[in-house]
Amino acid sequence: MAVDQSHTDSVRRKYNRNAVIYDSMDRMIKEDWRLRVIGQARGRVLELGVGTGKNLPLYDPAVTAELVGIDFSPAMLWRARQKPCRVPMTLLEMDAQQLTFDDATFDTVLATCVFCTVPDPVLGLREARRVCKPNGQILLLEHVRLDRPVIGPLMDLLDPFAAAVTGTHINRRTVENVRLAGLHMERVENVKGDLVKLIHARP
Ligand SMILES: C[S@@+](CC[C@H](N)C(=O)[O-])C[C@H]1O[C@@H](n2cnc3c(N)ncnc32)[C@H](O)[C@@H]1O
Repeated sequence: MAVDQSHTDSVRRKYNRNAVIYDSMDRMIKEDWRLRVIGQARGRVLELGVGTGKNLPLYDPAVTAELVGIDFSPAMLWRARQKPCRVPMTLLEMDAQQLTFDDATFDTVLATCVFCTVPDPVLGLREARRVCKPNGQILLLEHVRLDRPVIGPLMDLLDPFAAAVTGTHINRRTVENVRLAGLHMERVENVKGDLVKLIHARP
């Protein structure tokens, strides 16, 4: 599958614009939820869509040997570079839909609140699967579309506006997308009702 470059450029532009206000506006994901993911980030770790680096201070050198963080927005990455991190770290400008890493490079591939924005999430998840070692793990903390009678269709209705303004989709079916990408689903935990989920998968 090919990357839709004009869609990708348009989402990147939104995040370049959002970067200035991101840290002060983003209150949705609580730090202890982030710790539930980052605390399991063992070995050589790839963080997709590292953003302004909110997770970076949470990595523990006792668990994480090395961290590579990627994002396609230079303005978000600039902010990430100002954040402290206790593990050896490299930040790179890169599209999650076309990673430049070799197959089976990382022990852990993780993302927090990213597959709501990646223009083609299944393509991005296939790339996560490719660069993860066969015995590695893929951890995703994501808000998803609610499968309920009124609120679900309402999310569908509002999604074009949310995406046009922020670059974020509010109705992504990320659990289904993980399966569509051919990943092996290990476990899905509800973190905040059934709106925010922690997905554990294997390549
Ligand atoms: C909602 S923010 C989350 C940032 C960070 N993970 C956090 O938890 O605060 C989504 C991030 O994903 C990045 N992103 C979206 N699509 C991407 C892609 N195709 N490749 C790389 N980064 C992408 C955006 O630039 C943005 O920094």
